[in-house]
Amino acid sequence: MKEPASDEAFVAFERVQKSYDGVTLVVKDLNLSIAKGEFLTMLGPSGSGKTTCLMMLAGFETATHGQIRLAGRDINDVPPHKRGIGMVFQNYALFPHMSVAENLAFPLEVRGIGKAEREAKIARALDMVKMGAFAGRRPAQLSGGQQQRIALARALVFEPELVLMDEPLGALDKQLREHMQFEIKHLADNLGITVVYVTHDQTEALTMSDRVAVFNDGVVQQLAPPDELYERPMNSFVARFIGENNALEGTVEQIAGGRCTVRLPDGSVIDAVPVNVSRPGERTRVSIRPERVEFRPERLQADAHTLEAEVLEFTYMGESFRARLRVAGTDEFVMKYRNAADQRRLRPGERLRIGWLPEDCRALDAA
Ligand SMILES: Nc1ncnc2c1ncn2[C@@H]1O[C@H](COP(=O)(O)OP(=O)(O)OP(=O)(O)O)[C@@H](O)[C@H]1O
Ligand SMILES: [Mg+2]
Repeated sequence: MKEPASDEAFVAFERVQKSYDGVTLVVKDLNLSIAKGEFLTMLGPSGSGKTTCLMMLAGFETATHGQIRLAGRDINDVPPHKRGIGMVFQNYALFPHMSVAENLAFPLEVRGIGKAEREAKIARALDMVKMGAFAGRRPAQLSGGQQQRIALARALVFEPELVLMDEPLGALDKQLREHMQFEIKHLADNLGITVVYVTHDQTEALTMSDRVAVFNDGVVQQLAPPDELYERPMNSFVARFIGENNALEGTVEQIAGGRCTVRLPDGSVIDAVPVNVSRPGERTRVSIRPERVEFRPERLQADAHTLEAEVLEFTYMGESFRARLRVAGTDEFVMKYRNAADQRRLRPGERLRIGWLPEDCRALDAA
């Protein structure tokens, strides 16, 4: 018999819809395939349907329409405890009557793992989350961040094939959070664990994931690797939601050969890549990343359109400089550049001409 293709989905959502009240769909026609060993993040604003998707995958909610498959099987055929899924919920859900060590021992006991091996795995998992000294405590005797780390250790201790994590680092301070981001990522990579991760922290999503699904209002707006998501957003929502972004509204003037010109309200014209526009006269919102804006003329193409700008504010940020500019009628245009020996600091009131490479400027929907 033919081996299953190696790119066959390990987790597959097929046309999944979910309504809690029979009226409003909170997940609308979700199609999503996740490969074995992939780290996939669901990113989106509050209420966009992320937790609902995890709950359906875990088996605590059922889809109103559509199917969810795990390793080729319809998930409805597999009872939740037989799915081999590790889970970290938004609220930590530790067993309150058990000590930390007992909480971690539980998923191992269920799987019939012997005492010596259990203790070794528990010690390693507690070490990973820097909670080795707390094995004897009850959850109520721990801080929120400590409980969150125990929940994380408990989800990973039995080395599941699939781990679902819902905001697992939300209660941690920045330093611990960054430490845990790397720990989780390394562990998942080393053990070949498939991870479906939920966060509304975009930096976390970009740094940890193989691919990110950006959710809004129950719909995946874009599914792409981090660099593609950041550099080639497919619509205005994604451009706004991921990273800092300049948006200028205007009207398409010309469009040909993968380039367009856009006229801004003050009459000036800029070059862009047409993404969500197809004909002259259409309204558009163009998107440019602050670090792709250039004010040194020698860095721009000779024929590039430039715009007049006035410096309103200059901020020293250590490794970079940030300037807020008045450009084409907006006071919120941001330019960022590296703090390098040959770069100068700008002063409020200074006038500049700014520009960018046309490929760094995307003409998106006007919504
Ligand atoms: N058990 C429930 N009964 C009814 N409505 C629910 C239920 N759980 C969630 N919802 C609704 O479904 C929508 C999606 O909720 P969900 O929890 O999936 O969002 P989320 O993306 O995880 O948000 P957050 O980032 O705030 O955790 C919301 O409008 C929410 O109010
Ligand atoms: Mg949620």
